[in-house]
Amino acid sequence: MEASRWAPEATELAEGSAGLSTRPRRLRRVDNLRRLARETRLAVDNLIYPLFVVHGGPKEEIPSMPGIYRWPLELLPEEAEEVATLGIPAVILFGLPAYKDAQGGEAYADDGVVQRAVRVVKTAVPELVVMTDVCLCEYTDHGHCGIVRGGQVLNDETLDVLGRIAVSYAAAGADVVAPSAMMDGQVGAIRAALDEAGFPQVAILAYAAKYASAFYGPFRDAADSAPAFGDRRAYQMDPSNAREALREVALDIQEGADMVMVKPALAYLDVIRRVRDAFDCPLAAYNVSGEYSMVKAAAQRGWIDERAAVLEMLTAIRRAGADMLLTYFAKDAARWLREGR
Ligand code: PBG
Repeated sequence: MEASRWAPEATELAEGSAGLSTRPRRLRRVDNLRRLARETRLAVDNLIYPLFVVHGGPKEEIPSMPGIYRWPLELLPEEAEEVATLGIPAVILFGLPAYKDAQGGEAYADDGVVQRAVRVVKTAVPELVVMTDVCLCEYTDHGHCGIVRGGQVLNDETLDVLGRIAVSYAAAGADVVAPSAMMDGQVGAIRAALDEAGFPQVAILAYAAKYASAFYGPFRDAADSAPAFGDRRAYQMDPSNAREALREVALDIQEGADMVMVKPALAYLDVIRRVRDAFDCPLAAYNVSGEYSMVKAAAQRGWIDERAAVLEMLTAIRRAGADMLLTYFAKDAARWLREGR
């Protein structure tokens, strides 16, 4: 057998009874050898925790996402402090507005729920990085991610609104804005709006390859953002396409994205790998609500070992090439990582 990179001395080794000179199992024998040979590391540094925020009322658990809550503003400081104490570097905020209308007006209101939440979190824990999802679906009465006319989601009319939303989040103190509406040109429009408004330091995490996925179901319960008619296939990507993801990412980087995202994560590990190989830009993957709920449901029934399954999934997303993971498991993972595997 030809000596491999892994066993350069293979020919000099005494052969065992089975005549094997190369035995991959040697490095799997004990934990410390496995640690040394490990290729992929999952760390708390990689995690971003999504938070759903509401103006007031009680803290409410989301039925389809056990362990995930809608946080009223007054309880948000506690939660933000817990996240920071666990060592998680960032949160991303999703809002449930007080009202919805055709334009999604609360999305860019100074006293909108996310604007208020950004101020609350930044006051409580200034060092925690605050990201905000920039979209319209939670704020419009029709539940689409853009301005609708004649049953169509209008691209260019939506760009101005997205820019306005991003600027108002930046003014509230957001460190990163994350456009997720999948309108063409949204990153460029937001970069221009931020720069013009005097926020050149605010970064953009682009939902660059966001697929029209069934795995967003529980999120739409959580954020009350299901479309009232039709679906999102006229703007989110077709799950059959991977090459197209490279185009989307290239465009977003060209338009000024600082970081790009693939979403969902688990059914799209191939896309994560292809984007990682093709671009140097920091890469995020969104381990979405449906991916969370499936594991939770199986774990609650005793059908799967939650901790082992979650750490394996998050490690797989890292192995596919993602630098950072948006995951509802971030707090659990931070605790488990601290305890050691
Ligand atoms: C807003 C948005 C969605 C998610 C993140 N941002 C929902 C959607 O596009 O329908 C989904 C996140 C998740 O499922 O965890 N457009």
